[in-house]
Amino acid sequence: MVKIYFVSPSGKVTSLYADAGKSVLDVAHANGIDIEGACEGAMACSTCHVVVDSQWYERLPEPSEEEQDMLDLTNGLTRTSRLGCQLRLDQSLDGLVVHLPLETHNMLD
Ligand code: FES
Repeated sequence: MVKIYFVSPSGKVTSLYADAGKSVLDVAHANGIDIEGACEGAMACSTCHVVVDSQWYERLPEPSEEEQDMLDLTNGLTRTSRLGCQLRLDQSLDGLVVHLPLETHNMLD
């Protein structure tokens, strides 16, 4: 199991355990964390935008070109933004901290 912390825009921290191989979006959906994920991982919406804690960001695999392109269209983009549907948990990410952005923008609308 991999531990992950979600931090809401108001600062509320929720810690969860998830199976390796799940995406951050999967974990959020399974536990009532408020991440929309409108395209369910097809990299077409950017509503799964999360801001990775800066200490963790460097440890993540590089975003693909498709993810980067979608992030470039995301409102409120930060230096450590990623798409939650593209972040797969593994043991090296045990303790990962992700922040939920204040707003997301659905590119499907
Ligand atoms: S769920 Fe749509 S881009 Fe991640």
